[in-house]
Amino acid sequence: MVTGASSPIGSEVALRLGDAGYSLALLGFRHPEALARLGGVLDRRGVEHLCLRTSLHHQEGVDRVLAWLESEGIGPDAVVSLAASGVMRPLGELSAHHLDWTFGVTSFPIALLGARLRPRKLVAISSTGAVRAVAGYGAVGAAKASMEALLRYLAVELAPATSVYGVRVGLVDGPAAERLSNFSKVRERVLSATPMGRLVTPEDVAELVAVLVREPLEMLTGTILDLDGGMGISI
Ligand SMILES: NC(=O)c1ccc[n+]([C@@H]2O[C@H](COP(=O)([O-])OP(=O)(O)OC[C@H]3O[C@@H](n4cnc5c(N)ncnc54)[C@H](OP(=O)(O)O)[C@@H]3O)[C@@H](O)[C@H]2O)c1
Repeated sequence: MVTGASSPIGSEVALRLGDAGYSLALLGFRHPEALARLGGVLDRRGVEHLCLRTSLHHQEGVDRVLAWLESEGIGPDAVVSLAASGVMRPLGELSAHHLDWTFGVTSFPIALLGARLRPRKLVAISSTGAVRAVAGYGAVGAAKASMEALLRYLAVELAPATSVYGVRVGLVDGPAAERLSNFSKVRERVLSATPMGRLVTPEDVAELVAVLVREPLEMLTGTILDLDGGMGISI
């Protein structure tokens, strides 16, 4: 199952997993057209898939997903979590409602879904903003940091049946990144601080997720892997 499959990165992840032979349960929310586009490509490639459009915010959203999976007879072998949402403003401009929404979509669903579904593999996409302060990214960054902590607890609670990984992704070009304030300045700074000399792409993320889902990697769990071309270690 892939949450956030309607996103550019989520769609690439779904395509890569489909090419690797997995049948897919795909979740999206506000952009059904993106999910339909992805479904069309998967149809042409002969990949079996089902789609559900729902908000993961609050218990009702999570319950809807669990009921859907049960009604379709799906017990996912792997859950890949990319659903995220948040208001890109300085913390001083945010209300409790904004923070509730951001954490409710970006952080909590992994714990609620992971602990109930207990898949063989659980992979969640975090971001550099979980450990670095990026202007206007405080709410999402903090929600991603809390999600990373939840992953560590899930790794302990669900072992040895489930292996849990976080992938902390650096800046990826696309509409979501462009919503950052000072996007072009941030982009320039990230690029110049990246030893590999380019930004991360959706294909890079999909490739690593596919490896994490496919390979046994038995002793790797509770780990957050930085996928940022070395940006986080350069000064
Ligand atoms: N772009 C970057 O630079 C970057 C860097 C690091 C990590 N990431 C992470 O990579 C993932 C994908 O990001 P992206 O840039 O490709 O696109 P994105 O627009 O950030 O993707 C967000 C995804 O979450 C879904 N979503 C939003 N609100 C939801 C809700 N209430 N319930 C359920 N799902 C909801 C969206 O579905 P709908 O669009 O259908 O509403 C979309 O599929 C995210 O977790 C993001 O934080 C991105």
